[in-house]
Amino acid sequence: MTKTKKMDCSWSSYFSSSSLLLFLCFFSFDIINAEFNLTTISFDEGYTPLFGDGNLVRSPNGRSARLLLDRFTGSGFISSNMYKYGFFSANIKLPADYTAGICVAFYTSNQDVFEKTHDELDFEFLGNVEGKPWRFQTNLYGNGSTNRGREERYRLWFDPSKEFHRYSILWTAKNIIFYIDDIPIREIVRSDEMKLDYPSKPMSLYATIWDASNWATSGGKYKVNYKYAPFVSEFQDLVLEGCPVDPIQELSATDCFESDARLETADYSVITRKQRLAMRRFRQRFMYYSYCYDSLRYPVPPPECVIDPAEKERFRDTGRLKFGGSKPKAAKRRRSRRARRGRVQVVAAAEDPDM
Ligand SMILES: *[C@@H]1O[C@H](CO)[C@@H](O)[C@H](O)[C@H]1NC(C)=O
Ligand SMILES: *[C@@H]1O[C@H](CO)[C@@H](O)[C@H](O)[C@H]1NC(C)=O
Repeated sequence: MTKTKKMDCSWSSYFSSSSLLLFLCFFSFDIINAEFNLTTISFDEGYTPLFGDGNLVRSPNGRSARLLLDRFTGSGFISSNMYKYGFFSANIKLPADYTAGICVAFYTSNQDVFEKTHDELDFEFLGNVEGKPWRFQTNLYGNGSTNRGREERYRLWFDPSKEFHRYSILWTAKNIIFYIDDIPIREIVRSDEMKLDYPSKPMSLYATIWDASNWATSGGKYKVNYKYAPFVSEFQDLVLEGCPVDPIQELSATDCFESDARLETADYSVITRKQRLAMRRFRQRFMYYSYCYDSLRYPVPPPECVIDPAEKERFRDTGRLKFGGSKPKAAKRRRSRRARRGRVQVVAAAEDPDM
């Protein structure tokens, strides 16, 4: 079954100030599988509230949840179990209109258990001023490698506040894949050289919305404007696959053989040739920052980086694009610890240059 997804240009005012407009309107993906074969669960089957209780609103049938941010608090939920290897996925819709300063995060972490040596895999959606599109980044940490951020930043080919799209993180012993719908947008293949920077301890799934005024939009230039509150993000068709593991007794504990085998043979564990092409197209057209090409930050790229000479051509030595979008400002880069609402720490990425 072949399905072509064409970008909807009706929201093109989104990009009206951008020379990317024409380019984006001709963008399309040819993908073999329209959807993965997934088993969805209810909120209570897999998750518990994390913070901002009143701002976590479950749907009457328990199949979906909304996370709200207002002037008093953000909110979040967490998986009831920790998993060693898994597939974490949800259909997500982000807040609309003026969303500067907001961060919606969908990620796995074990920072609550391993404060100094935590592992983490991130989708972080960064709000924007009205009329400017959401952007997002992916990142990973292993065994507390917080001084070695591995951020990539991207635009989207659709408006994530208008439609639900599925965002997924696959984590196996061999690789990590970030997906949007059935399009793999980033794959990290485990290599021996990565050592413990590759996440290796059981992690929980987190979903949060929080005020990231000092970081999310143009490096903190635009704050959350609570005139537009509450900001609502919706999560539905929740999927948690993998082996539930007690993080402390990990060694003596569960036999994960069966669930690991199920993970590794699932449709989302195999990147088809068409999907690989779609991944390359996505990365060529929508990635605007990669730590792998940021040679000021990493004179020697981290070991998992696959340097594509043609791709490298497109980036400056700051890891930012040479062309496309607006001009990057001078590389004013900060990497400081930020408190993430809800007990979690995150290391801020490179400042967003594209406003
Ligand atoms: C989908 O997955 C279920 C169980 O995970 C399996 O029983 C079923 O055969 C799968 N369907 C397809 C079309 O692969
Ligand atoms: C993880 O990092 C900590 C602190 O840097 C180190 O002591 C520990 O040995 C590392 N874990 C493993 C399994 O090597």
